[in-house]
Amino acid sequence: MGLKRVFRVFRYKPGWSRPRYETYTLDLPEWATVLEALMRIRRDHAPDLTLRHSCLHGSCGTCGMRINGREALACLVKVQDLPERITVEPLYNLGVVSDLVVDMPAFYEKFEPVGRPLIRRSEYLPQAVPPEGIPHFTRLESCIECGLCVSACPVAATDEAYLGPAALAAAWRVVEEPRDARVWQALALADSPHGCWRCHLALECSEVCPTGVKPGHAIAALRAYLLTSQAVRTASPMGEAS
Ligand code: SF4
Ligand code: SF4
Ligand code: FES
Repeated sequence: MGLKRVFRVFRYKPGWSRPRYETYTLDLPEWATVLEALMRIRRDHAPDLTLRHSCLHGSCGTCGMRINGREALACLVKVQDLPERITVEPLYNLGVVSDLVVDMPAFYEKFEPVGRPLIRRSEYLPQAVPPEGIPHFTRLESCIECGLCVSACPVAATDEAYLGPAALAAAWRVVEEPRDARVWQALALADSPHGCWRCHLALECSEVCPTGVKPGHAIAALRAYLLTSQAVRTASPMGEAS
């Protein structure tokens, strides 16, 4: 039996004076995801509907959006788990480029000064035996740079310069496991007026993160680290960290 759903989709193109919502009624197979529904809308009703996607299985991070007011990866949300009326909007706090596509370069730019470790050496599994020809398994970083955390963050909504949960979580990773990244630079950014002290620690970011990065928890760890290192500096007879 098919699923009948009414989709209310955010539409905006450069040059429009304001965005609008358009409504599409679909009959979908039971396995359909929200991303599948949107692709059918584009195929059958609105060929100019723009959205981002790639992997279709929750690993590329490109299909982030707000579905009934909640940040999610559209390829992982099953339509059958949603009510009859479904509102789909672009992520908040990143700026809309077109329809469901937001300004991701602005998001990525905040990572660059922090440094982005890509592989966790600390989480190699020594007991894992790699296949012949592969020297070892590697554990990639969990962050898929989807932007859901930034969209859910109330501070990012009011402070455009806020480094944001994803970049601050990356900063904490640099402190945890520096490899070749510059720890002092990550800490200076985290300690800046638009860094970790702006966070309200309400943890919406950790709540919506699809890969368990828990950026809010990383920010709390950064704060504790900064406070401890400041206390060490103050207590040092030379006023320097040991
Ligand atoms: S915990 Fe901090 S970074 Fe995360 S959503 Fe709340 S204010 Fe934003
Ligand atoms: S921290 Fe989580 S929610 Fe934020 S960009 Fe990375 S994967 Fe997405
Ligand atoms: S399409 Fe890759 S995460 Fe959804």
